[in-house]
Amino acid sequence: MKTVTLSTLKAHKRAGETFSCLTAYDASFARSASEAGIEVLLVGDSLGMVLQGHASTLPVTLDDICYHTRCVARGKDQSLLMVDLPFMSNSSQERLLQDAGALMRAGAELVKVEGEAWMADGIRELTRRGVPVCAHLGLTPQTVYQLGGYKVQGRDAERATQILEDARTLVAAGASVILLECVPASLGRAITEALDVPVIGIGAGPDTDGQILVMHDVLGVTHGRMPRFVKNFMAEADDIPGAFRRYHEDVKARRFPAEEHSF
Ligand code: KIV
Ligand code: NA
Repeated sequence: MKTVTLSTLKAHKRAGETFSCLTAYDASFARSASEAGIEVLLVGDSLGMVLQGHASTLPVTLDDICYHTRCVARGKDQSLLMVDLPFMSNSSQERLLQDAGALMRAGAELVKVEGEAWMADGIRELTRRGVPVCAHLGLTPQTVYQLGGYKVQGRDAERATQILEDARTLVAAGASVILLECVPASLGRAITEALDVPVIGIGAGPDTDGQILVMHDVLGVTHGRMPRFVKNFMAEADDIPGAFRRYHEDVKARRFPAEEHSF
């Protein structure tokens, strides 16, 4: 695989080709995922749940994320490295810039931030300074206590329109990528078609430009409730690299996600 950059993702979108993304938290799994061809690795604040055992992503600190980013950056091959800004990094413009700077110095190539249209100013300031941004919309886990749980977003027309408008606003402000979590497949398709930038989905149906899953779910190490949109690729593989390859191939061939994984 050639080194994956934002231009690669845009070219995939123009060509109508999907791309695969997976969370990674350490050097060894990052290397295996890269070698399987997975285009984007995300050091997600999901690490608070799958590594640290918390009930949400809120307790994760900037230092936690920087540590895992350095680990993944050393291990990964040509995949693009996206990294989450933790809860409350967006509490002020100053803090947003400082925290994003720390992630970039740790090895991030794209930073992901949760937040709706009001994040536009922050995204403008980041991109102005050379920090590419992925804006995470739909189900935003850092606001789970406000949303009242991990629920599908945009089932009603009003909220669906709002998510689409927020996506347009954030792209206009400079966002290079949009990530949609847990929205109906019809909304995932509408937003993907409406925007020039690559759209990555998780539980957003089969028509987004890219797909992402949490590594532990791909490997069948899911404890508690198994969300509808995940698939255990280990069940059809002989080993972990094989499960990563299978996931990558199924995304590229648009075999995953199927209707049963969509809302
Ligand atoms: O933290 C994370 O793993 C994420 C993905 C689920 C998109 O934000
Ligand atoms: Na996250």
